[in-house]
Amino acid sequence: MELHILEHRLKVASIAKENIQLFTYGLVKLAFLSSKTSCKFFSLTETPEDYTIIVDEEGFLELPASEHLSVADATWLALNVVSGGGSSSSSQPIGVTKIAKSVIAPLADQNISVFMLSTYQTDFILVRERDLPFVMHTLSAEFTILQVVNGETVAADNRDATNGFVKPKLVQRPVIHPLSSPSNMFCVTSLDPYTLPTVTTLLMDVMFYSNGVKDSVVGSEESGHIRFFSFSLIEGYISLVMDVQTQKRFPNNLLFTSASGELWKMVRIGGQPLGFDECGIVAQISEPLAAADIPAYYISTFKFDHALVSVNSEAPCYVSFAIIYT
Ligand code: ARG
Repeated sequence: MELHILEHRLKVASIAKENIQLFTYGLVKLAFLSSKTSCKFFSLTETPEDYTIIVDEEGFLELPASEHLSVADATWLALNVVSGGGSSSSSQPIGVTKIAKSVIAPLADQNISVFMLSTYQTDFILVRERDLPFVMHTLSAEFTILQVVNGETVAADNRDATNGFVKPKLVQRPVIHPLSSPSNMFCVTSLDPYTLPTVTTLLMDVMFYSNGVKDSVVGSEESGHIRFFSFSLIEGYISLVMDVQTQKRFPNNLLFTSASGELWKMVRIGGQPLGFDECGIVAQISEPLAAADIPAYYISTFKFDHALVSVNSEAPCYVSFAIIYT
């Protein structure tokens, strides 16, 4: 298997809900007029707490410098696992389940902090740029590591990464952060970029103007629903994560899902904001899911983490967590 280190140098930032209007000029450009920017990696996720933005340096320049933009103090690089041979891919697990054992667990064992962004197309594992030598050292036993330089994929400079064999630690990794699960169900979808203009008005509404909408369709926090919407435009590919209620607002047949009607239950991780230094949170959640063969996506935001767990699999997610941790 190949591990690609992408060349985007990423910033992770948070905007408070009430300050979003200070940034919409830049955000609209990044999401809907991307040809007017040189941004190639942009994601915007709204949660009840805030808006989380992951954006490359080029895109970051589109946002005004402001005290209302909290930026995590590191530059992050995105790793991406590319499995060779496409024919058997349909039987392979998707999402974070696929990379839990080979990437997530070894990095956690070496105390390397990650930040996850699953999309419809693939899963990005963000690591801090300064941790890259350790990341390469840790993963070179398992992967052919390739680096993208000026758009071309070349063998990574592995000099520091020889003797990459890292003894797997047989550590127990109990789930230490509180988990909660909202009652709304989610879908992970995509959109042909050519059809983006037909839903731009709707997307602007959903992304910037639907907060606090109190109609029965959107639901309220009392019903156990949470507000969660994620838009990403990465190397020309669009990915949207939204709840079923929001999906119903889109025209029929415009969004594609990998298998029609596939729905995901969200498990939110964290009581206090998780910060950026702690390691092993993604591993705590994804290892047991992988062990039970339960497909899952995983989206980190500025404050909390979010696993999207398949409800089509045999065991509901709580069952698998319960089995493993009681
Ligand atoms: N750094 C955590 C880990 O290595 C995941 C990210 C948690 N932090 C956050 N702000 N979402 O497992």
